Amino acid sequence: MAITPLVMGNWKMNGRAQSLAEFLQTVVTVEGAEAALCPPAVYLAQAASSGLSIGAQDVSAEKGGARTGELSAAMLKDIGCDYAIVGHSERREYHAESNELVAAKAAAAVAEGLVPVFCVGETLAQREAGQVEQVIAEQLAPLLKLPQVMAAAVVAYEPVWAIGTGKTASSSDAQQVHAFIRTQYAAVDAKIAAALRILYGGSVKPDNAMELCAMPDINGALVGGASLEAASFNQIIQAAAASSAV
Ligand code: PGA
Repeated sequence: MAITPLVMGNWKMNGRAQSLAEFLQTVVTVEGAEAALCPPAVYLAQAASSGLSIGAQDVSAEKGGARTGELSAAMLKDIGCDYAIVGHSERREYHAESNELVAAKAAAAVAEGLVPVFCVGETLAQREAGQVEQVIAEQLAPLLKLPQVMAAAVVAYEPVWAIGTGKTASSSDAQQVHAFIRTQYAAVDAKIAAALRILYGGSVKPDNAMELCAMPDINGALVGGASLEAASFNQIIQAAAASSAV
């Protein structure tokens, strides 16, 4: 089954209303790839009017109530979100999010019709210690106990050492981990595994996007820095579309 690649821009805590307005005028959508943008939450409504798919950078695991500063999946759905990133390594690191909490966030997203983009990835120390598969398996484990949630999710492999550093995993190293993620899924349900979109993230740029997206188990990219400029984001969308067409 051909999987349409997804290229998702994660603006993190960057951009302003003016730069988003300029970005939205310049970004182009192409046939053969889906483009999505995750701006800071206060700009979601502005981005939602653009025709791009849009996603939140985080979502609460709770439905509502006394959670100052948090946003529920239902609220994000109201504002037009299609996706919600869960378990980004910056959330895991700076907000001490556990594997269980990340899976609960994914479940909350799915319950409201949002697609969770479930991030996994090892640190440099874990890679050097030969623990990549163990770490990824542990991060995925609570998700794989929730069949409806795993069926709806996108998984993003983002090696922590490659995020914002200019160091990218080689396409073959990335492919190896992506294949492992699909195997983990297949151990639960082969059909869901075959349809799973697995994005690569970590210093994806116009000049490496094509090679990465051409790998058999890489179904698009989660792009930080290079998504802030519409010109480079457009090139990555085009590379993903072209690589899926070959
Ligand atoms: P980067 O960020 O492309 O700037 O490395 C990727 C991410 O954190 O999603």
